[in-house]
Amino acid sequence: MESHLLLCILLSIPAIASSDLLVTHVRNIKKRNAENDLVVNGIEIYSMKIDSKVTSRFAHNVITSRAVNRGNVHKEVFFDVELPKTAFITNFSMTIDGVTYPGNIKEKEAAKQEYEKAVSKGQTAGLVKASGRKTEKFTVSVNIAAASKVTFELTYEELLKRQFGKYEMFIKVKPKQLVKDFEIDVNIFEPQGITELEAEGTFITNDLQNVIKKTFSDKKGHISFKPTLDQQRTCANCSQSLLDGDFTVKYDVKRTTPDNLQIVNGYFVHFFAPTNLPQLPKNIIFVIDISGSMSGREIEQTREALLKILDDIRDDDFFNFILFGSDVRTWKEKLIKATPENLDEARKFVRGINTEGMTNLYGGIMKGIEILNAAHEENFVPKRSASIIIMLTDGQPNVGISNTQDIRAHVKKATEGKYPLYNLGFGYGVDYGFLEKMALENKGLARRIYPDSDSALQLQGFYEEVSNPMLTDVELHYPENEISGLTKNSFKHFYDGSEIVVAGRFVDINQNSLTVDVKGEGANDALSFTTQQDAEQTAKAFQEQEYIFGDYIERLWAYLTIEQLLEKRTAATGEEKENLTAEVLDLSLKYKFVTPLTSMVVTKPEDYDNQVGIADKMTEAEAQAAPVVMQAPPLYLSRPAWYTSVDGDPHFIISVPQKEDAICFNINEKPGDVLSLINDPVTGITVNGELIGDKRANSDAKTQNTYFGKLGIANKYLNLKVTVTSEKISIENGNEKTAFTWLDSVTLQQEGLTLIINREKNLVLSMGGGASFVIVLHQVWKKHPLQQDFLGLYTLKSHKLSEQTHGLLGQFFHPIDFTILEIHPGSDPKKPDATMIIKNKELTVTRGWQKDYRKDPKHGVDIPCWFVHNNGAGLIDGVHTDYIVSSLF
Ligand SMILES: *[C@@H]1O[C@H](CO)[C@@H](O)[C@H](O)[C@H]1NC(C)=O
Ligand SMILES: *[C@@H]1O[C@H](CO)[C@@H](O)[C@H](O)[C@H]1NC(C)=O
Ligand SMILES: *[C@@H]1O[C@H](CO)[C@@H](O)[C@H](O)[C@H]1NC(C)=O
Repeated sequence: MESHLLLCILLSIPAIASSDLLVTHVRNIKKRNAENDLVVNGIEIYSMKIDSKVTSRFAHNVITSRAVNRGNVHKEVFFDVELPKTAFITNFSMTIDGVTYPGNIKEKEAAKQEYEKAVSKGQTAGLVKASGRKTEKFTVSVNIAAASKVTFELTYEELLKRQFGKYEMFIKVKPKQLVKDFEIDVNIFEPQGITELEAEGTFITNDLQNVIKKTFSDKKGHISFKPTLDQQRTCANCSQSLLDGDFTVKYDVKRTTPDNLQIVNGYFVHFFAPTNLPQLPKNIIFVIDISGSMSGREIEQTREALLKILDDIRDDDFFNFILFGSDVRTWKEKLIKATPENLDEARKFVRGINTEGMTNLYGGIMKGIEILNAAHEENFVPKRSASIIIMLTDGQPNVGISNTQDIRAHVKKATEGKYPLYNLGFGYGVDYGFLEKMALENKGLARRIYPDSDSALQLQGFYEEVSNPMLTDVELHYPENEISGLTKNSFKHFYDGSEIVVAGRFVDINQNSLTVDVKGEGANDALSFTTQQDAEQTAKAFQEQEYIFGDYIERLWAYLTIEQLLEKRTAATGEEKENLTAEVLDLSLKYKFVTPLTSMVVTKPEDYDNQVGIADKMTEAEAQAAPVVMQAPPLYLSRPAWYTSVDGDPHFIISVPQKEDAICFNINEKPGDVLSLINDPVTGITVNGELIGDKRANSDAKTQNTYFGKLGIANKYLNLKVTVTSEKISIENGNEKTAFTWLDSVTLQQEGLTLIINREKNLVLSMGGGASFVIVLHQVWKKHPLQQDFLGLYTLKSHKLSEQTHGLLGQFFHPIDFTILEIHPGSDPKKPDATMIIKNKELTVTRGWQKDYRKDPKHGVDIPCWFVHNNGAGLIDGVHTDYIVSSLF
């Protein structure tokens, strides 16, 4: 056996619960076969089944898609799946003409090597990944011979989380063509008994409503959705499928006791969700970023959300607002009780919130903690109450302490774990890694708020999740000497509608009973009780269970352990991180979970090439390449922040945040030429860049690389010009001239301009309404025979520029979308080509990487992107020479 065919499935660290799937075939860009509307571009998907079994909240889902090539030449068949970010893939296989190629789980590094080995042997590999808010998508495609059949089977597992009183499972459905045999089948078994069961789909019309079959009785629930061909059509004679959207299943279980303990085969799981407890009063501090970058839409949506939140604050709650721009402002010096008068005053305050200056995140958060600490020390708030800090920011700290590690250290010391810190990161300009680490270090969590029309609702929704604390300091105690591998068992807060889940393993696998002490602090008194359970009782509760996948508690335990270790790992460093990595890797391999540390590799027998070669005559080029093109998400663990930038020899990176992907292109012009990068007639901001070559005398663009040696940033309305070279930074403000060198460390704030020079590294510049740029200095070895120092430009807050913004970079500040089709081998075996549909054009693009040097100016960070050839031809408006201007200003 030799690995030729590889699939690396690399999912990010789970963040949010939900579920989603889409199985598709290459988009129909060619003429449809009129005779049969089941066949699109030669391919018929004759069956698609989503089979889901849920046992005690643990979901095991299998997606099976079967297709046949009805054409008379070989064709590429795509299998596209969107899965919840919280799910782990556990198996994947392909069956081509009866031969199954199973997936094997491997350590990511080993998988990558195997993959590269295959690639170097002339096999091709494509990388495709896109991501929605809650889901991650990956694509696999396979080239199959005429009349051949292929079956894709993917399995994933996840623990359904309870939110707002319900467990929710969501499956994205998007077959993109009519499927003869389409079915979603969900079986739920809950030993506590099911109290309600709902199923809905965003695409379900009135006609389809009764196609969803739903039944439940006592412990079992069943949902089936099996639309006929005609029911799938968007209209009576249409061949388009209306199956396109989210299919959601929600349920809850009976709660006669506050908790439920299950023991099977040496493992236990403990669910804790008391109901009917009085709510605790809250002490809540909102720490809100009002820096210039929040201006416009973001601050409006923040005001809107805060006003709605004020309507929900209960009269025994205490609250306060801290605003931070360059300075820190507090609404009140102390926490204030939510009396009707105070709420009215708060509304006035919120309506008056406006943006100003830079981002003194450190000052804001520390002020919040100080006020909360003082309230507790002075016994100013009720002893039985739950304190919470919610921070919202859209930027990165740049005033006060801006080193994120220092901020984390100070914050951790100041809160002493007394209250959870919830960090909401607005948009893509935030350092999400920092927000996440800081939240996790302070018993909270981080969330991204997606910039969209519903941003206010996202903010409000988050508040609702934490607005009903019922208990603080919940501790679940298990006899220490009997248990190993215990998951997290102490929780700062318990919120109404949620559920605490703890799992563990018995030291003696034959042990079959367990006693647990549960404690928590409620609104009126302490909660304390003891639960006892034995394996026989669990077995009895499972008696009628026919389809139980036997080791579900063990897998649930492994899932929860991996999830929590990964979370711990985000904030860990050094040896602790190494140990956590080893532990996660070990468990991922043992239980076959595709986590951020593992990949799934599909191998096929050696003689496969021959089989295909005989069955389907291919051209020389095709025969060289593998018959199967595997596609996998890019190989990075933490997703980079999304910027549009130009750097290096000028390479442009255009991020497409909604796809979590990027497009890139190069411009090859002569040294001395000045390119228009950004030009906004409305705000008056322009950015131009002058090219330099290397040290060779020859200035032929064909033989040498060019770089930006000089950047000119101007705001004509403010009569402001900033010129940056690799040596100095000069500012002309009307008649006033100031100059700095890269050896200076400077924070300069004046009318309409904020400039921070980070000595010999980069400078951050904000102008007017909040548009900001980072210019990175690249210093090369002074005696380098060829290279010279040069500059890179990264835009933050590009949405602060008007819709009329143009220029080589500026034109991409408007939302842009693309579709990738037909990934195929390119001239470089490591870099597949594909067809990109963009701006209604078809371009041939190549998968590659470009460097983002913001974090690491020496080596840069690889950003995977689709490369558009020939100076961005077809992607940029006009031709690249249109962007050559006569001078820097
Ligand atoms: C993965 O799926 C294939 C195909 O259904 C099956 O043969 C194999 O046993 C599965 N592997 C595991 C570990 O479940
Ligand atoms: C559907 O097709 C049939 C037969 O071709 C035709 O009679 C009917 O009018 C069509 N219906 C619609 C809604 O177009
Ligand atoms: C890491 O693991 C080693 C070996 O088990 C152990 O000796 C060491 O104390 C651990 N270090 C940390 C920081 O947990």
